[in-house]
Amino acid sequence: MRKESQKDKVPFSEMFSGVIGQQYDMLKLICPLATEMSRLVGEAVKKYASQSISVVELGGGTGITTLAILLANNQLSVMSVDNEPTMQSQAQASLNDWVESGRLSFSADDALTALQKIESNSVDVIASAYTLHNFKHAYRKQVHEEIYRVLKKGGQFINGDRYALDDVSRHTKIIQQEVAGYFKVLKKLNKLDVLEHWIIHLFNDESENHIMREAETLQQLDVIGFMDINLSNRLEVNALLTASKSVRS
Ligand SMILES: C[S@@+](CC[C@H](N)C(=O)[O-])C[C@H]1O[C@@H](n2cnc3c(N)ncnc32)[C@H](O)[C@@H]1O
Repeated sequence: MRKESQKDKVPFSEMFSGVIGQQYDMLKLICPLATEMSRLVGEAVKKYASQSISVVELGGGTGITTLAILLANNQLSVMSVDNEPTMQSQAQASLNDWVESGRLSFSADDALTALQKIESNSVDVIASAYTLHNFKHAYRKQVHEEIYRVLKKGGQFINGDRYALDDVSRHTKIIQQEVAGYFKVLKKLNKLDVLEHWIIHLFNDESENHIMREAETLQQLDVIGFMDINLSNRLEVNALLTASKSVRS
C-alpha cells in the first residue's frame, strides 16, 4: 500500500499552519475538552507506569498533551512527533526546559514515517491526542499496525481523540451542537477567520475517508492484536482509548 506523503496531506497541513496553527489556543475556548483530554492522556500514562519509561507522542502540536505526559512522572522520556513546523515550533519554545534536561526530543516526520523508523518491541507507551482522527483510513490503519509493532510486550496505546458515535443520527446532532458552539464563541470574539477555518476543518474530520467511527476502530485494533481495548471518558464525540499489546505476542 502506498505511504501517505507530505504532499497528500497538503490541505490539512495548511489548516494547521495557517490561522489554526497560530491561534490554536483558541481551541481552549471553543472546545474546552481538548485541554481536558490532554490531562486525561497524562493521567493514563501516570496510571500505566511510575518508573522510567519511553513514550512516543504522535501529533504533539503546540505541546499541550506533551506537557501532560511529561508531568505524569519525572523519569519518563518523550519523543514528540509532528510534521507541522508551525505547531511543533510552539512546543519547542515552551517546553525547552525538558529538552535541555534530556527528557524531550522532537521528530518532524509524519507519524507513520516516524513509527517506521522505530525498532520493534522498543517503546513502553504510544500516546496521542486529537491527531489520529485527522488521518485517512488506510493511513490510520498502517499507523495502528505500526504502533502495535513498536510497543513492547504489555506496552500501552493511549489516545484521547474524536471517536465518532456509531449512532449516526446522534453523532450528527452532536456535531451540529459543536458548530453552534463555534459560532457562539468566535462571533463574540470577532474571529470569523478562525471560525471559517474550523468549519472547513470539521468537514475534513467528518468526511467519509477520515471519520474515526468507534466500533470500526475498536474492531481494527482487536484484529491487529491489541488487548484490553477500552474507550472511556466519552463526552460528545471525544473519548479516551487505551489498549495494550499482549505480553505473549
Ligand atoms: C489537533 S492537533 C493536537 C495537538 C495536541 N495533541 C493537542 O491535543 O492539543 C493535531 C496535530 O497533529 C499533527 N499531525 C496531523 N497529521 C499528522 C501526521 N500525519 N503526522 C504527524 N503529525 C500530524 C498536526 O500538525 C497537529 O499539530
